[in-house]
Amino acid sequence: MAASHWMQALSVMTLAVLLCAARTNAQGQSQLNLMPAPAHVQLGNGSLRIDSSFAVALTGHTEARLDHAVQRFQRQLSLQTAIPFPAKAPPSSKSTLEIHTDHASKEVQEPGEDESYILKVTPDGATLTAATPLGVLHGLQTFLQLVEVSPEAFSVPAVTIEDSPRFPWRGLMIDVSRHFIPLDILKRNIDGMEAVKMNVFHWHLSENQGFRAESKKFPKLHGLGSDGLYYTQEEIRELIGYARDRGIRVVPEFDMPGHSTAWFVGHPELASGPGPYDIERKWGIFDPAMDPTNEKTYKFLDQLIEEMAKLFPDHYFHIGGDEVNGKQWDANPKIQEFKKSRGLKNNDALQAYFSQRVQKIVTKHGKAVIGWDEVFIPGVPKDIVIQSWRGQASLAQAAAQGYHGILSNGYYLDLGWSAARHYAVDPLGGAAANLTPEQQKLVLGGESCMWSEYVNPENIDSRIWPRNAAIAERLWSPQTVTDPASMYTRMNAIGARLEWLGLSHGRSYRLMLQRIAGLSSPEEFAALRTLADVVEPAKDYTREQTVSTEPTSATPLNRLVDAVPPESAAARAFSELVDKFIAGGCHEAEAEARLRAQLSVWRDNDAKLQPLAQRSFLVKEVAQNSQDLSALGTAGLATLDFIAKGGAAPDDWKAQQLAAIQQIQKQKAQLLLMPAPAVQKLIEAAATGGACSTAKP
Ligand code: ACM
Repeated sequence: MAASHWMQALSVMTLAVLLCAARTNAQGQSQLNLMPAPAHVQLGNGSLRIDSSFAVALTGHTEARLDHAVQRFQRQLSLQTAIPFPAKAPPSSKSTLEIHTDHASKEVQEPGEDESYILKVTPDGATLTAATPLGVLHGLQTFLQLVEVSPEAFSVPAVTIEDSPRFPWRGLMIDVSRHFIPLDILKRNIDGMEAVKMNVFHWHLSENQGFRAESKKFPKLHGLGSDGLYYTQEEIRELIGYARDRGIRVVPEFDMPGHSTAWFVGHPELASGPGPYDIERKWGIFDPAMDPTNEKTYKFLDQLIEEMAKLFPDHYFHIGGDEVNGKQWDANPKIQEFKKSRGLKNNDALQAYFSQRVQKIVTKHGKAVIGWDEVFIPGVPKDIVIQSWRGQASLAQAAAQGYHGILSNGYYLDLGWSAARHYAVDPLGGAAANLTPEQQKLVLGGESCMWSEYVNPENIDSRIWPRNAAIAERLWSPQTVTDPASMYTRMNAIGARLEWLGLSHGRSYRLMLQRIAGLSSPEEFAALRTLADVVEPAKDYTREQTVSTEPTSATPLNRLVDAVPPESAAARAFSELVDKFIAGGCHEAEAEARLRAQLSVWRDNDAKLQPLAQRSFLVKEVAQNSQDLSALGTAGLATLDFIAKGGAAPDDWKAQQLAAIQQIQKQKAQLLLMPAPAVQKLIEAAATGGACSTAKP
């Protein structure tokens, strides 16, 4: 295969991946491109043709949400096939898809409602049956994922699917405070959530860097704490309605007593230290915290929570509670005196006092508290939910004492992990695996978290999607669904499909590269794309280790590190190919040819990138990364030459190459060059005693 064609084959965003979806996986098992994988799938014979006569009928319980769902379904089906469907089918026409719903779901959606559905597709038609509209919504998404192109027409394979979720709480949190994310972008992410059957949108609305919800009672909160970037109450109601239509609950978070500087710009009297305060522009953990000893704090929170509890219908109200460093408390003699007089031994005890007071307020306004690990104090009312950012152990500890919890540790999208790494994290893994079945039921599920230090409206979709689909599957599908290869195949398919919903992870990548290169034609900046496709942003908050100026909310997110996907599909494919080559005894001609083609592209790429570096400072920043890629290509090709000659690579050569690779693996321009470990593996295989060091048969 010519090098350029091979690169094309690697591209995860191409329609081809979606439309030529494989029906068998590596184990030869039947596999549809469904994500999350349903609980039970039985393939039938033949397929149902999708053409312009396709019509949908609703029977049983009906409500406006179901009508909206059918309209949306038809719009999506039309996007996927470009077949126009009449808004209303002629009365005489036979329905292709019959939907039956037994009864309504709760007026305000609750965790644990029946979300199951049964979808039966035959060559003559399809039926979708569900106890409640929630199951219908999920079943319609499954149907849309089944649509494929065949040599004759668009069609859906004959199949019977019986499906229900493993966990009742399957969420995505978006931090809209560190960078403001406009409503339309939240909406399209909610569309994405619907597509992967997630059912909780956790709206992180306040932070040091912004208070983003309009308060009519305390207009200085958003008025002075948001730079004018906030959601009006009307917009908030609109989003809640939008989410409800898609079977998604909206849980608001007002983070307190820490992470709250933006509140103090308009209300310095709430803080534990003297003001005045400004909106925080930097990232990190900061000192300002609410004064837990002042009755006025609770009076204020009582009124604010009353207002917000009316605005947000969900039963759960998130009070944050994370990362109070206690410095303002320690520096305030009045607070120290309060601690002494109440016998509060330390700041944890003081925070427990605060949490209990706020929990009472939340309860008084008809809601239950959800908070980060820190709000868990043994003895608090049992309706609380612990959201664990610390890990399964703290979740298990809470469950062992009878408390509900959800897992977020392991699902932080901003850490830049691979989808496979997130996928391997199970809410009932680790310490939670030792819980009794009754205790395990208290673990309600999990939430992925999109913290937004390095996320803005332009690149947020690419930080969430498609990796979030892997987390959605972990929370929906049976625990036994764990094969990463199958996950990647299906995640890439859904990743392409999500762009039909308006999600911009592929498009924004192209546009950002276009900006970085200062060129508009993809052919002109192909060399930048080649490099960009194999680098990933530094992981685990190490990004700031090598910068000379501290980033702030005013720092433009226009560098290559901001543009590239968190996970390189091309590097993963290369690594798999190296493994295959070595496993095959290093004399498989086809694998070798493909490796050579790829390594040659990399070796030759730096010369092509240099003119781009001359014209753009944003390309110049990654000049060393480009040279490193070229060096990797050269080293890989030399290694293949040694292998082809049938001798082992000399020890001094190997040592030299490995030393060079060690340098190459260091983060540069906040980027990691992802094929480096695979090239290292190849070098080691070629050296004396390595898997490839014996002559070809
Ligand atoms: C958190 O990561 N501080 C919730």
